[in-house]
Order: sequence, then structure tokens, then C-alpha cells
Amino acid sequence: MPLFIWEDRYTVGVTEIDEHHRHLVSLLNKAYQDFLHHASPSELNMLFHELIDYATYHFSFEEEKMQARQYPETTAHKGEHDEFVRRVVEMHTRYQHREKILFLEILCFLQNWLSHHILEVDADLGRFLTAVPSKTADRGKCI
Ligand SMILES: [Fe+2]
Repeated sequence: MPLFIWEDRYTVGVTEIDEHHRHLVSLLNKAYQDFLHHASPSELNMLFHELIDYATYHFSFEEEKMQARQYPETTAHKGEHDEFVRRVVEMHTRYQHREKILFLEILCFLQNWLSHHILEVDADLGRFLTAVPSKTADRGKCI
């Protein structure tokens, strides 16, 4: 059974962001399956780096979109991304020095964080990016 079961409610309505999220979820599920099937520490390490590299790429994409559209929640949203990277790097450092079960702790943290972040924070961003621009701003303008 996958660690993260994708459901329609995770769709935020922005094609690239939804594709990124689906890819992140598939990487997470692959890491979980490989963990269950006793992948070696170096294989798990590779999977971990693949996940984090992709998450970082995805965060940059979202942050560029937010800046381009002057999203009012950019600072708070970026703050969540930064805190995520900080937490994961910290957990991974602990994992490298201790037992394998910590890898599972990292995957569970990723699952919980991603689920919350997509449903709450990215859903707000999706609504903002897909909103039809208000016509009110144009009213009163001379042509
Ligand atoms: Fe985000």
C-alpha cells in the first residue's frame, strides 16, 4: 500500500504545480516501497536526495510564480518551504548517524507535511493563480 494515496482533493488547479505534486508523491511512495523492501543505505540516500532536489526545484517554481503575480502571501508561503528544507536536512543528518528506522520517520514527516502544505497553503496559491482577474481595476480608465 502506498504511503501517500493521491486523491482529487490534492489538485490545486495549476497544471505544472499539480504535476510537480504528483511527481513528489510518486517519489515519496517509491522511497517508502524501497525502504520496505530493504534497500541499502546508499540506495535510500540516493532516493532521499532525489526527493529533496525535486522538492527544491518545485519550491523555486512556486516562488517564481508568486513573485511574478505579486502574491500577498509570498513571504509566509516561502517561509514554509524554507522551514521544510531546514527540518528535512536536520532529520537526514540525524539519520546518517543512527539507525535505519529514522528513514521511516523522515518519510512520515514528508507525507504529513506535503499533505498539509498542498491542502492548505498550495490550495490558497492555486485559487489565487487561477482566479479570473477582476475587471474593476479597469473601470474608469480612458481608452
Ligand atoms: Fe508550496
